[in-house]
Amino acid sequence: MAFDVASIPEIELVARYAPGARMAFMHPVKSRSAIRCAYFEHGVSTFALDTHEELAKILEATDGAPDLTLIVRLAVSAEGAAYSLSGKFGVETHDASALLLATRQATEGRMGVSFHVGSQCMRPTAFQAAMAQANRAIVRAGVLVDIVDVGGGFPSVYPGMVPPDMADYLDSIDRGFADMSVHEDTELWCEPGRALVAEASSILTKVELKKGDALYLNDGSYGSLFDAAHTKWPFPVKLFRNDGGEAVEVEGALKPYRFYGPTCDSLDHMPGPFWLPDDIREGDYVEIGMLGAYGVAMNTRFNGFGDAETVKVSDAPMASMFGLAGRMIRLPREQQDEERKVVRFSRPKGRAGKSRRKR
Ligand SMILES: Cc1ncc(COP(=O)(O)O)c(C=O)c1O
Repeated sequence: MAFDVASIPEIELVARYAPGARMAFMHPVKSRSAIRCAYFEHGVSTFALDTHEELAKILEATDGAPDLTLIVRLAVSAEGAAYSLSGKFGVETHDASALLLATRQATEGRMGVSFHVGSQCMRPTAFQAAMAQANRAIVRAGVLVDIVDVGGGFPSVYPGMVPPDMADYLDSIDRGFADMSVHEDTELWCEPGRALVAEASSILTKVELKKGDALYLNDGSYGSLFDAAHTKWPFPVKLFRNDGGEAVEVEGALKPYRFYGPTCDSLDHMPGPFWLPDDIREGDYVEIGMLGAYGVAMNTRFNGFGDAETVKVSDAPMASMFGLAGRMIRLPREQQDEERKVVRFSRPKGRAGKSRRKR
């Protein structure tokens, strides 16, 4: 196993918590000083790239090191992803052959291809399709690759988004790999992010004010709730109240709420809707689940907010891709629709009921 890192601070973080761990610098655009420091001070020799300019930069910054593993990131379709990562990185098909060939010739070490199908990919076959696209690129370029890296994109569970089973993703990757023109020792890599960690933590945030259907919280889009604000995902929520020093979960008739964060910016808004008991009040705590990925890591500390205490707990996540909880979180609206579909055999009430009984 190795860690996919994007910067020197991430390299230092991995080195601190997992001394000796292998790392791969998979950000396709790096500064010369970061490449130098990664290679010479931290022993990182795997680098991603998606342009000839970045290839030259890596070779120069490492003084033409003979032991580099160079991974060419390809642009692939982001269809099926809830959060597209296309556009920013990845060499387009028509330019891929020349870059693959130049990379193969540039290193005496190993080379590979990578891609990212987009985050929260809901379609397992997207991996097989991307691998077929990668295969066409390497065959056209006439290179043999030592590594096929299928990137991240593996999904987690959010309200209204029920991902297929993780086994379907692995089957798709197995089929894709079997169809690729690679040699016997070619390694298959992946870089899961969200799927691994989303279910591992929740955020507990305090209600500072209730104004109609708006709840003003002490966490927001500049803190841990970036995704709730920008991708507008309705994360799962629970309500807790301090009852004589005990945290008690409050249940009851649910109402849709929207959230505002603590900063002065009106963009600090999470539209939800978040379904919470209608008697929610100042001082209550909202647990926002499935926030282990792209949660606290997004904190900017804007306006002086962003302090967070981390506490280890042992209860199950709100949902799980790995059997620790259900693989579905239904939106209350979906539950209501479902209930409406149920045929009831009880006697109709009111006028209709009476007239039928008379007959
Ligand atoms: C290069 C790379 N690999 C892996 C990931 C993880 O992606 P995900 O969380 O969708 O699995 C990312 C996320 O941005 C990334 O940029």
